[in-house]
Amino acid sequence: MKIESVKTVYFSPTRTTKAVVEGILRGLGPVGVETLDVTRPDARVEPLRTTDRDLLIVGVPVYRGRVPALLNGWLHAISAQDAPAVPVVVYGNRIYGDALIELGDILTGCGCRPIAGAACIGEHSFSSDEMPIAGGRPDAADLYHIEAFGRRIREKLDAAPSADRISVPTLPGCRQYQETPQVPAEDFIAVSDACTQCGICAEVCPVSAIDPEESSLTDAGVCITCCACIKSCPEHARSIMPGRVKDMSLHLYTLCGERKEPEFFL
Ligand SMILES: Cc1cc2nc3c(=O)[nH]c(=O)nc-3n(C[C@H](O)[C@H](O)[C@H](O)COP(=O)(O)O)c2cc1C
Repeated sequence: MKIESVKTVYFSPTRTTKAVVEGILRGLGPVGVETLDVTRPDARVEPLRTTDRDLLIVGVPVYRGRVPALLNGWLHAISAQDAPAVPVVVYGNRIYGDALIELGDILTGCGCRPIAGAACIGEHSFSSDEMPIAGGRPDAADLYHIEAFGRRIREKLDAAPSADRISVPTLPGCRQYQETPQVPAEDFIAVSDACTQCGICAEVCPVSAIDPEESSLTDAGVCITCCACIKSCPEHARSIMPGRVKDMSLHLYTLCGERKEPEFFL
C-alpha cells in the first residue's frame, strides 16, 4: 500500500525520543511529514485525527516502566480510522517494562493498527557529566539500526495490498501493566548564581512548573522530574541537588552501566 504521508507525534522533554523518531523518518525515505511535538502543554489541547492513508509514528519516553501518565488523556483521544501506526518507546538503559505494549494498546484502542514497534535507548533524564547514564544515546550505532527499522517499515507497507492486511507484531510486556508507585513531590533542582533569568527553563517545561519571572521557583507538586530545564539551561545553572533524585541517579549510574541495545518488532 502507498501511504500519502507520515504523521509523527512525540513527547520529548530532553529530546532523545525526538532523535529516535527522526531517525525512523530518515529510514522511511522521501514522504510528506507532519510533525506534532506534544511536549509543551499548549500542544496537547486539540486531539489528533488521522486516517488509513497516513502512517502514524508515536514516540514517548518510558517513565517508571510505563507510558508517562500525563499523556494518557491526550493519547486516548486520538481518532484514527485504521491508520497503520508505530509505537516507539525510549528508555534510559534500565528497563522499558510494559511501556511498549501499553502504547500499542492505547493506539489500538484509538483505531490504529500497530504494524511495528520499537524500544530504543536514550540518555537518561537523570544523567549528568559526573554520573553519565546512557550518555549521548541514541548514538551513531543506535541510529544506524533505527534508520534500518524505518526502511523495513517502508518495505512492509509497500508489500501490503491494504492497511487492513498488514500483520501486527506481538509487543513485549504484560497486559496487567506494572503499578507505578506514587513518589512524594520533591524540590530537587539547585539553581546557581550563573542563572541569568533568561526564561528558557520555563519555556521548555512540559507542565509549566517553573515561574517564568523567577526561574528558581519550581512547583514541586507539578514537576514531573523530566530534567528538561536542567538539560536546556545555556548557563548550566541548574543541577540535581542532594536528595531522592540524586540518590536515584547514583543508583542508576552504578547499576545500569551495561549497554542495552534497541529492539524492533515487525
Ligand atoms: C520520571 C522518570 C521516570 C523514568 N523511568 C525510567 C524507567 O523506568 N526505565 C528507564 O530505563 N528509564 C527511565 N527514565 C529515563 C527516560 O525514559 C529516558 O531518559 C528517555 O530517554 C527520556 O526521553 P526524552 O529525552 O525524550 O525526554 C525515566 C525518566 C524520568 C524523568
